[in-house]
This record gives sequence, C-alpha cells and structure tokens, in this order.
Amino acid sequence: MNFKEQIKQGIPTELPSPKAYDPNINHAPKRKDILSAEEKKLALRNALRYFEPQHHATLLPEFQNELETYGRIYMYRLRPEYKMYARPVSEYPGKCEQAKAIQLMIQNNLDYAVAQHPHELITYGGNGAVFQNWAQYLLTMKYLSEMTEDQTLVMYSGHPQGLFPSHKDAPRVVVTNGMMIPNYSKQDDWEKFNALGVTQYGQMTAGSYMYIGPQGIVHGTTITLLNGFRKINKDTHGGLFVTSGLGGMSGAQPKAGNIAGCVTVCAEVNKKATETRHSQGWVDEVISDLDELTSRVKEAVANKETVSIAYDGNVVDVWEKFDKENVHIDLGSDQTSLHNPWAGGYYPVELSYEEANEMMANNPEAFKAEVQKSLRRQSEAINKHTAKGTYFFDYGNAFLLEASRAGADVMAENNIDFKYPSYVQDIMGPMCFDYGFGPFRWVCASGKPEDLVITDQIACDVLEEMKKTSPPEIQQQMADNIQWIKGAQENKLVVGSQARILYADAEGRINIENAFNKAISEGKIGMVVLGRDHHDVSGTDSPYRETSNIYDGSQFTADMAIQNVIGDSFRGATWVSIHNGGGVGWGEVINGGFGMILDGSKDAQRRLEAMLYWDVNNGISRRSWARNDEAIFAIKRAMKKNPMLQVTLPNFVDDELINKM
Ligand SMILES: NC(=O)c1ccc[n+]([C@@H]2O[C@H](COP(=O)([O-])OP(=O)(O)OC[C@H]3O[C@@H](n4cnc5c(N)ncnc54)[C@H](O)[C@@H]3O)[C@@H](O)[C@H]2O)c1
Repeated sequence: MNFKEQIKQGIPTELPSPKAYDPNINHAPKRKDILSAEEKKLALRNALRYFEPQHHATLLPEFQNELETYGRIYMYRLRPEYKMYARPVSEYPGKCEQAKAIQLMIQNNLDYAVAQHPHELITYGGNGAVFQNWAQYLLTMKYLSEMTEDQTLVMYSGHPQGLFPSHKDAPRVVVTNGMMIPNYSKQDDWEKFNALGVTQYGQMTAGSYMYIGPQGIVHGTTITLLNGFRKINKDTHGGLFVTSGLGGMSGAQPKAGNIAGCVTVCAEVNKKATETRHSQGWVDEVISDLDELTSRVKEAVANKETVSIAYDGNVVDVWEKFDKENVHIDLGSDQTSLHNPWAGGYYPVELSYEEANEMMANNPEAFKAEVQKSLRRQSEAINKHTAKGTYFFDYGNAFLLEASRAGADVMAENNIDFKYPSYVQDIMGPMCFDYGFGPFRWVCASGKPEDLVITDQIACDVLEEMKKTSPPEIQQQMADNIQWIKGAQENKLVVGSQARILYADAEGRINIENAFNKAISEGKIGMVVLGRDHHDVSGTDSPYRETSNIYDGSQFTADMAIQNVIGDSFRGATWVSIHNGGGVGWGEVINGGFGMILDGSKDAQRRLEAMLYWDVNNGISRRSWARNDEAIFAIKRAMKKNPMLQVTLPNFVDDELINKM
C-alpha cells in the first residue's frame, strides 16, 4: 500500500502487528496512576470503541498493559510505518487543497525531528498533545483525505467527531482541546479525564497543528533578550544570561542567546534533551562539572564571547554555585515545565533524573514535597542574585506561580503581585502586544526551501517599505524584525516544514500576506499556510503571561480569546482552535489560534484581509480598554485609517479624586 492509500484507509480493518517499545526515542514519562479500578474499565471501554468487536479480545490486554505501564492508552500498535514528516502538499490524498495542507501541518507536528515524544503524540511542553492515541490520528487523516469544501471536521480534544456539512467560507476544521466545566479543570482532574481518554492538553500549537519547531520560540526569546538587555542598559556582548531547560521550547534559549550575542548558561537534567540540542547545534558546549562551568563562564564573559553552554545537571545548583563564586548574572529566567510540576515538568535538586522519575510515578506525594522544597531553594538563590543586581523575569512557564504556591519568598510587599515581573509585563506586553506586534508565521506548502527564500525576501521588502513611514513608537519593533528576517536564512532555523516566524502588527501582517498571495497567483511560489502562535496580542487570556500586563481586573476573564476564535472562524480562517491550558497550565489559560491557506485566489485575499484585521485589533481594543497607553495609541491609529472600526475608549480618572475616597 502506498502512502496515499495508507492515509485513506484510516484505522486498518486488519490489525497491524504489535510494535516494540523503542528505547532510542524520547518517551513521555509514566503518568500518575490516577484511575480507580472501575474508571480503568471505563478507559478501556472508551479506547475499544474505535475498533470493531472482533479485535477487542486482542486489544484489551494490550491497552490494559499500556494503561498500567504508562498511565495512558496510546495504542502503540497502530503507529504508522511510513516516515512522519511534512511532505510537499501535492503528496497528500484529498478532495480539497485546504484539507491536504492540514494533513501536512499535522504530520509536521508529529515529525520525529520536531516532536518531543513522537510515539506518545506529544509535540512539546511535556504534555502538549496532537492526539491522545494513534486511532484518533488515523481517523482524522482519513477524514481529511475525504472532505470537500462543503464540510467541516469537528475535533474534540484529539477525537475526530466527524465531518459535518458546512460551506466554502467556513473553517475546514474546528478544534477544541481540554475544554472542561470550570469546576473540573484542575491538575488532577486533567490527569483523570485524560487517562479516561476523553480530553487532552493541546498546549498552544501542538493540538492546533501549528507548531513549527523551536523557531517560533527562538524569535520570541531573541526579542525578549534584546529588550531585556536594553532595559538594564547593558550591551549583550559580555552579558550573562542564566536559565534552564533544553526541551521542546526551552531548547531555543541558547540559540536566541547566540543571536543576541551574549553568554548563555542553560541547565538541563535530561541528558537526552541536552544531546539532542547539542547535536543540532543549538547549544555550543556541554559541561557537567560546576567548577569547570564557573571558570568557563568567567572566561567567556571577560572575553565578551558569544557562546551558549549547557550545564548537565540541575539549575538550582547553578544559581547557588554562581552566588557562592560571585559570578554576576545580568539576566536570569527559568524554563522548566512548571505548567506541569508534578508529572515531569520540574526535576527537584538532589534527586537524580532516574530517582525523580521513579518517585513521581510511585510516590507522588513525596515527589510533590521535593518539587516544592526545590522551588523554595531555587527562589532563595535567585533572590540573592537579584539583591546583587540581576534582572530576573518569569518566562511564562508558571515559575513564580508555582514557587509562590510552594511558599517561596517571591511575593511583593503587597502580597498580591510577584516580586519579579513576567516577561510580558515588562517587555512583550508594552513593547509588542499592545502595539499589535505578535508572532505570525507561515509554512511553504510546496516544501521547497526556494519558496521560503522568496517569502523571506518579500516579507523583508514589505517591512522595509512600511518602516519608512512608521511612527517612532514602533520603529524599534520594525527594525528588530527586519534584522531577524535578514538573518533568518543564515541562522538555519528550519526544523521540519519550510516555515518562518516574524512579528508584525495588523497592517504588516496583512501587507505581507497580500504580497504572498499575489506571488502565488503569479506562480512565483506554491501555496502558503498562514498561522500564528496562540501567544499573541488577542489569542490568549492568561493572567500570568500573555495578559499579565492587563491591570483592570479583566486579566482573569477569557472573553478576548473566545471572541477571537469565533470572530476568526466567520471571517475566513481555514481552521480554528480553542484550548483550555497551554503554556502555563491546565485551568490557568484559555488560548486560541487559526490556520489559513493562501492559494493566490481572490477568495484568499478577501479572507486574509478580513480575518487578520480582526485577529489583531480585537486584542488591541481590549488592551486599550484596560487603559494601556500603547494600545490606546494603536487603536486610535487603526480607527483613523478605517472608519468602519469604532472602538469604545476609556476615560481616565484623576488618582487624587479616587484616593480622596
Ligand atoms: N515564554 C514563552 O513564550 C514560552 C513559550 C513556550 C513555552 N513556554 C513554557 O516554558 C516551559 C518549558 O517548555 P518546553 O516546551 O521547553 O518544555 P519541556 O518539558 O520540553 O522542557 C523543559 C525542560 O526542563 C528540564 N528541567 C526540568 N526541571 C529542571 C531542573 N530543575 N533543572 C534543569 N532542567 C530541568 C526538563 O528535563 C525539560 O527538558 C513550559 O512551561 C512552557 O509552557 C514559554
């Protein structure tokens, strides 16, 4: 059977032979054993409903074994034999181009070079799933190979509910992930309902088929570091940045540090993760000894080297050692997976990697205590550094949130705020999001690197032209992004599909996409898939991250993200997604995104103009209503250009009047 035939068959009628567990692959850790005996029966009944009854007796013991051994039923046996990667769009079976492009995006999310735990269908963040099991994958690909432009595929947390009649302008796919009744949306609830097979954590771009490897986060981290060093008035050359994590997203930090030009130290406890990033050239050196690390860092800083160093061990040890040895850290952060603290996201100091894995599965209460103890120790060491002048920021991984819950000394005097800002409060929010600058991305569906080169050039030309007349408020953003796109080819950022990320405001995004659409219509490039990270101006309500610089109380509401996905879906998105969880954790955030296919048609032009305009201005209007000056500037500018846009603006109350109360 060739590739197309395999996709079209969906779940095979004859079961493939069982697959051996491959120890060379980075596997998800064993999940907590959370189901009662009765609930385990329910999980098995749920899993078996994908299969005809004649297979149940064969599959039952196998699935039961997976549930006992790994805490989840992944249906390893059904994992396809073909290579998993984003093929050129023409190689996918299908009745409409849009559905073929979505297949490409799904396979990219599961590519072994891209996905963190490919056999468990996890793309990044330890638990960011594309599907819960392989049956869901096979069925979804089959539906996509059959759908027409008059149907919409409905995805419930990885489960393809089916194809429903719709119309040409409707999204081809509507994705929801992890949407729970709010009172049942806590860590343990998620573990339980995920183990039952009825929900999944889609992270942001995992369960929405929009992950493009670590490039997206390299760009965001580069922008954050450049602006972070600007904030402390320090040249990046000769500056030291200390952080942790060389995983799915965090692995981008050393590369971003190199692009920014500083010395980066990144601690990582998982040797496999370190080896991967080192072999990919994303981190320059690996050091396992703390004394050696200290002298190497001192030397690199003194020589103003641009170098990234992985410390093969726990980050707590690095913070403590550098304090003792008086190594001055300019910028400090953390990117362990604290959105998922009890199931492998954070490894406590003084336990080996193996000991920690064993304890989290077999003695979760003791493990939780170790995590909290370690967070208190890490915070104490960080506090010593900040007292000596380090600028520490939370990088959206829930570090401060979990540290505060562990009783660490991270609260500000008012006992409401944290001692340290999140990167959004100080950097991304006021400098980027409030002006409408956010991470939009594109994938060249032909799979040709030449197409990506042409699109890079088009995007650069458009931005350079716009910069000539841009107001001073956004000149720095324009300049940083022009520099980024110019260096993008040289920095070899492509992992998986031919993709590029860039920050632009609504006008920039629309101008660039229109130029792409024109180039497609002229036959200069093939189809383009447009999308973005959910981590953007409008897509995400997350009080400790994307919306942490909203101060009118509405940071704990989720209207913006919901409005966004609804608005995108009727303005022409090819697919839309809305997720509970993502980035900072289950129950902590609602985030949404879209995908859009540009095929050079007039329809594509109409859709991109209508949808992108809303997709950015929705968030700016909300940020402006929250009284953020930069957003008020941006929305007034947008209204001036388009009289059809009428946004309610806030009035400011004199503080003296309020304080007299
Ligand atoms: N700010 C942003 O824009 C942004 C973007 C993406 C992800 N994130 C957040 O960052 C976190 C990391 O994401 P990821 O995809 O890299 O997750 P990941 O799980 O792939 O990587 C985290 C890594 O940290 C390592 N680690 C855990 N505890 C450690 C310790 N004490 N010392 C040293 N290493 C340790 C783990 O072994 C793992 O490899 C997540 O919480 C994610 O939500 C933030």
